[in-house]
Order: sequence, then C-alpha cells, then structure tokens
Amino acid sequence: MRQKTASGIPGLDNVLFGGLPQGNTTIVEGGPGTGKTTLGIQFLLEGIKKHNEPGIFITFEEFPDQIYEDMNLFDWDLRKLEKENKLRVIGLSPEVLMHQMVKPDGLFEEMIKEIGSKRIVIDSISLLKYLNGNERKNFCTLRNVLRKHGLTSILLQEQSGLTSGTASVEHFVFDGYIRLAMKARFHTLRKRTIEVLKMRGTRITEGEHRYRILDNGLFVQKSSLLSRIM
Ligand SMILES: Nc1ncnc2c1ncn2[C@@H]1O[C@H](COP(=O)(O)OP(=O)(O)OP(=O)(O)O)[C@@H](O)[C@H]1O
Ligand SMILES: [Mg+2]
Repeated sequence: MRQKTASGIPGLDNVLFGGLPQGNTTIVEGGPGTGKTTLGIQFLLEGIKKHNEPGIFITFEEFPDQIYEDMNLFDWDLRKLEKENKLRVIGLSPEVLMHQMVKPDGLFEEMIKEIGSKRIVIDSISLLKYLNGNERKNFCTLRNVLRKHGLTSILLQEQSGLTSGTASVEHFVFDGYIRLAMKARFHTLRKRTIEVLKMRGTRITEGEHRYRILDNGLFVQKSSLLSRIM
C-alpha cells in the first residue's frame, strides 16, 4: 500500500484510511469562507511541526502579508517558520508559476531544493483555467511537475454555486477531489460538510461528513453510515 501523508485536519485522515497517499495531487474545492486557505495552511503546519517536512504556499491573488494576517486568527506564526526555512509563502502570477515550473533549474525547482519541500499548497488553481486557453494542458503540466518533485499537493479551487456538482476536466486530471460545502440546515448554524469524491491510491469513507472551523482550524467529524444517508 502507498505511504500516507497526514493531512493535519483532525478526523480527515480517518475518512481517508490513514491520510493522503504520498505524492498525490488533490483538489480541495469550496465556496467563499468554507475554510480552503485555512485547510491548506493546516496541512503545511502538520508537515513542518510533526513530520519534519517543509512546505510551500503559493498564492495568486493575495499578498503573503494578507495570509500571515488572516492566519494570525488561529495563532499560527507563519513568519517565524519562514525565518527557520521550514515554510515559504510566495505571491506570484499563474503565468510566472507555469513558466518557472517547466524551466529546467527554474525558480520553482530552486525553491523546492532550497528548503527541501515535501508539501505544497496552491491558492487557487481557478485562474490556471484561463491561461493560454488550454486548461487541460495547464492542469496536466502542473500535475506532472508536482509529481516529478514528489510533492504531496493540495490545490485549492473556488466553487461558485452554479457549478456545484458538475465534473470538470481538473477533477479527472488530478489524483484527489475533496469538496467543502455549506448547507442551510439549522436556524442558527449552517451545516458545513466535507466529502472525498475521489482519492487515487486509497480507500475512502464515502459520503458527506460534518466539519467545523474552531480556534485550531478545521476538524472533521466522520459520520456513521446511517447519518450519511439520512
Ligand atoms: N475560531 C473560529 N471559529 C469559527 N470560524 C472561524 C474561526 N476563525 C476563523 N473562522 C472563519 O473561518 C473562515 C475560513 O476562512 P478561509 O479564509 O480559510 O476560507 P476560504 O475558503 O479560503 O475563503 P475565500 O474563498 O474567501 O478564500 C473565515 O470566514 C473565518 O471567519
Ligand atoms: Mg481563501
């Protein structure tokens, strides 16, 4: 069986029978405020703090300062980890990333080698769709480069309400597909759900599981079969 990489999200590794298969590229998709960025940072912190696996966070739309500030909410001191060369938070454009990824000895490879990165998060891949007008090629290139470097990857993707439930090319290209959703169920509290729709290389516990965002980030409550079909 493939070696597993702990996700850092309490409860999620139960759903994945031990974690993400090492080297997998996984899309985590969700609407606004579903906790995508938080989940991505939690995944990197797990690697840094518990497994001696440095990580890279690439952001297309925010400045790194905004990420540091947002994540301070959770008492996560990302600047300190950067100084210790365990983390890199990089803001760049999709064009530059793709260019540097395919270039031999490009900045991307240099960055991975510099800190010995084992994990990467890209926030978000939604913009890659529109690059060069060939989304399938962009996604395949990205997947192949990430695999080549042996990185276990979380690729965040924004979901608009309209596209919910429809399969797009990226869902086929990448190894894993996890969906975060918010459902109006209770008068006072929306129900947040997480579902693993696909994960090459491992068994999964099918169906929607509830999750919450608390002071330590996301945590998943793996639900019983009965509560999943009700
Ligand atoms: N302690 C907490 N308890 C409950 N909710 C919290 C707590 N701390 C932060 N949050 C909320 O968690 C949400 C997660 O934000 P995050 O930025 O990870 O979501 P996102 O999916 O990346 O959003 P976006 O689509 O805007 O990028 C925020 O709306 C924030 O208000
Ligand atoms: Mg975000």
